[in-house]
Amino acid sequence: MSRAAAVRTSEESDRLSSRDFQRLAAFINDYSGIKMPSAKQVMLEGRLRRRLRATGHETFADYCRFLFDEDGLEAEAIFLIDVVTTNKTDFFREPTHFEYLVKQALPDLAARGVSSIRAWSSACSIGAEPYTMAMVLAEFAAANRPTSWFVLATDLSTDVLETARRGIYPRSMLDPVPLALRKSHVRIARRESETIARIAPALRSNVGFARLNLMDESYPVGDPMHLIFCRNVLIYFDKETQKQVLRRLCDNLLPGGYLFIGHSESITGFDLPVRTVSNTVFQKLPDGAPRPAPIRRRT
Ligand SMILES: C[S@@+](CC[C@H](N)C(=O)[O-])C[C@H]1O[C@@H](n2cnc3c(N)ncnc32)[C@H](O)[C@@H]1O
Repeated sequence: MSRAAAVRTSEESDRLSSRDFQRLAAFINDYSGIKMPSAKQVMLEGRLRRRLRATGHETFADYCRFLFDEDGLEAEAIFLIDVVTTNKTDFFREPTHFEYLVKQALPDLAARGVSSIRAWSSACSIGAEPYTMAMVLAEFAAANRPTSWFVLATDLSTDVLETARRGIYPRSMLDPVPLALRKSHVRIARRESETIARIAPALRSNVGFARLNLMDESYPVGDPMHLIFCRNVLIYFDKETQKQVLRRLCDNLLPGGYLFIGHSESITGFDLPVRTVSNTVFQKLPDGAPRPAPIRRRT
């Protein structure tokens, strides 16, 4: 190969053309709702490199030809989505939500005679959120017999679901969990040179994991929920997608049930059948109840 051709090839492999970026961005947005403005091109290039290696393609152009060819998307979409999703999470993230659960939402459900609680973590990432919900529910159930509970945990990314199902984390990740809860629900072990924390089997057995795309037109989650967490995922969607997702979530929430969104997210301007009960916590109104006027967004 001539030197000029070698330089061209190496440049091509290092850069995603703007046409290919636009095609990828449109596909990612349609499929997952995740916005891909051109400012994210460098990030996407960086993250796609491992898919180039895994699929045996030398250049971004080759990878895109394969992807947008007949069967490429069918085979590759899951992996592509795995690399573009942002999975940051923590145990007891945004702790005021869990305080609200313990002090307000769970006692309210109990006072209304609910003895079998259905909860859903709808963008569960590697499992820190649903296992935190599970710890709180297990403690509440132990103190309020007979109460049973179940947490459904879903996400679009198959990678994170695999980690979540295993329920094994670096020990330090469990630091935000209060000591008493760690003692009851976490097992510490040595694995090779690392100390790991494993969620106790009794807790894991009450948490079910499944792949679910919040962009789908309906959510096959079974009976409506008493609690839905949809935190730190709406920020990746545009306003119209946020509204549609929140409407579908509300369709799966029981009247009197609670919806939690991330602290940097908002339902402002959306006409939803809920009332605000705390910062980023909402309660579904009884069927047929007049809705509060939607709070208008400032222009
Ligand atoms: C930043 S994490 C938030 C995790 C957790 N809810 C929390 O607050 O700690 C966002 C998660 O949303 C998931 N996600 C992105 N788009 C999604 C979609 N369309 N449907 C379901 N999950 C999605 C990502 O895979 C990722 O695990």
